[in-house]
Amino acid sequence: MQPRHVAIIMDGNGRWANTRGLPRVEGHRKGAESVRDVVRAARQVGIECLTLYAFSSQNWQRPLDEVEALMQLLREYLLEERQEIMENDIRLIAIGHIERLPAIVREPLDALIRDSSQNKSMTLCLALSYGAREALVDAARAAIRSRIPPEALTESTISSYLPTRDLPPLDLLIRTSGEQRISNFLLWEAAYAELYFTDTLWPDFRRGELYTALEAYAGRERRFGLTSEQLRAKANE
Ligand code: FPP
Repeated sequence: MQPRHVAIIMDGNGRWANTRGLPRVEGHRKGAESVRDVVRAARQVGIECLTLYAFSSQNWQRPLDEVEALMQLLREYLLEERQEIMENDIRLIAIGHIERLPAIVREPLDALIRDSSQNKSMTLCLALSYGAREALVDAARAAIRSRIPPEALTESTISSYLPTRDLPPLDLLIRTSGEQRISNFLLWEAAYAELYFTDTLWPDFRRGELYTALEAYAGRERRFGLTSEQLRAKANE
């Protein structure tokens, strides 16, 4: 089975650069090339939704020159990939506090979100200035504001206030670079996602690595709290 929704924590750009004696920004630049290849491959194999953790709420605390370089790379990506995204019928969306992004990113981002909104073949979701705890706080605030009675609050109401509400359920969460953490990414959505960790650093993660992760996913048994026997019985119903 192929996952409908894949999310990736793209980690290891700094280490990729450090081991080569290069500035960290060179790792991010190479990482942006991986983004291009992985998005293309995901579209080709028919993934419905790909969510990429491109900039966390915590990343604002990095040195100013690194933050500026990341913003520049995001801008270049949005401008340079615009045509490819449109031609491949990809819908671009963003989750996170994008109002904090500088105009050099906001302008091409808003334009591509608007212009690609009717595209249907894949959703590319960029998590930008995103933190899952912040998203849950925002959801709680919105629910309180809409005066939902406490007893009416269910899991599906909470989901409906999250920025991922229109996306398919998260099936597979990949993290590169050998770290085994979720780092404030899609905490609610990952409840039943399969986790896949690889030692490969993000700049070296290209389509072949994606296919390996998809094969690993296909070999997993997703039980959602049931037993294997129950699952088999359900499949035979
Ligand atoms: C983590 O590596 C990566 C990031 C904080 C940024 C991810 C950004 C890109 C891949 C490039 C731009 C994105 C797009 C969508 C074009 P790290 O710097 O934490 O690596 P380290 O743990 O080795 O230091």
